[in-house]
Amino acid sequence: MDVKHYYNPHGEEILDEKIYGGSPTGFVDFNRSKYRWDTNIYDLMNANTWFPSEVNTSTEKKNFDKLSPNEQSIYKMTFAQLSFNDSAQEEYLADFRSLASNRLVKSAITLQMMQEVNHSKSYAVLLDACGNSDEVFNLYKYDDMLNQKNQKIAEQFARYIDGGSVDKMLLSAMASVNLEGIYFLLGFSYIYLLGDKVPGARDMIKFIARDELNTHLPLFANIFKTIQKENKIQTSTIELYIIMQMTDSKR
Ligand SMILES: [Fe+2]
Ligand SMILES: [Fe+2]
Repeated sequence: MDVKHYYNPHGEEILDEKIYGGSPTGFVDFNRSKYRWDTNIYDLMNANTWFPSEVNTSTEKKNFDKLSPNEQSIYKMTFAQLSFNDSAQEEYLADFRSLASNRLVKSAITLQMMQEVNHSKSYAVLLDACGNSDEVFNLYKYDDMLNQKNQKIAEQFARYIDGGSVDKMLLSAMASVNLEGIYFLLGFSYIYLLGDKVPGARDMIKFIARDELNTHLPLFANIFKTIQKENKIQTSTIELYIIMQMTDSKR
């Protein structure tokens, strides 16, 4: 790795650092934020810190056993999907972060990564209490639809994350917005449907949804808008991507 990656005294001023491109000095200075939304979201993420042990899961198995076979199937399938989403998101964030330049935006992504790992840990704690952790984490082997969904999400993440151009960084950020804004919400809504029948899952999802919707989604929505603005990327480029996505999803 180039030494300048870590320290570049002749790099640009902190307030001039863009999200992509340029040569930062290497300092993380929370008192000099070019965007403001980055430090605001960082502070909110910190304020929202929670731990899986705060959720009471002591009656989860008893409550799960009382669900109908259909409800049990919804429960297991939802956590199978959500656990993959968080696993993929953590890995994607590490890749996106390594290609980004602005150090405060990168700091916010670092904290988001920690929270995605916390979500993965919470699924393990919940499913362990429920007694079906191995079964749920192995569902992708037996359920073709789940396998296909996981594959689609992995493809969306992998498609533009080679850092080859700023357009690709922009389109890659859109994959994260899709995940936080659409795929996670779908999973949450299934658990909200079960509601008070499974209070452990309900309470854990409340914490996770707060992270995703109040901070992770706005973080990447801002990253997306800022990359577009800083690099004057035409809306037609983004529209082309959306058309490609729609064509892909019909296959
Ligand atoms: Fe998450
Ligand atoms: Fe997230």
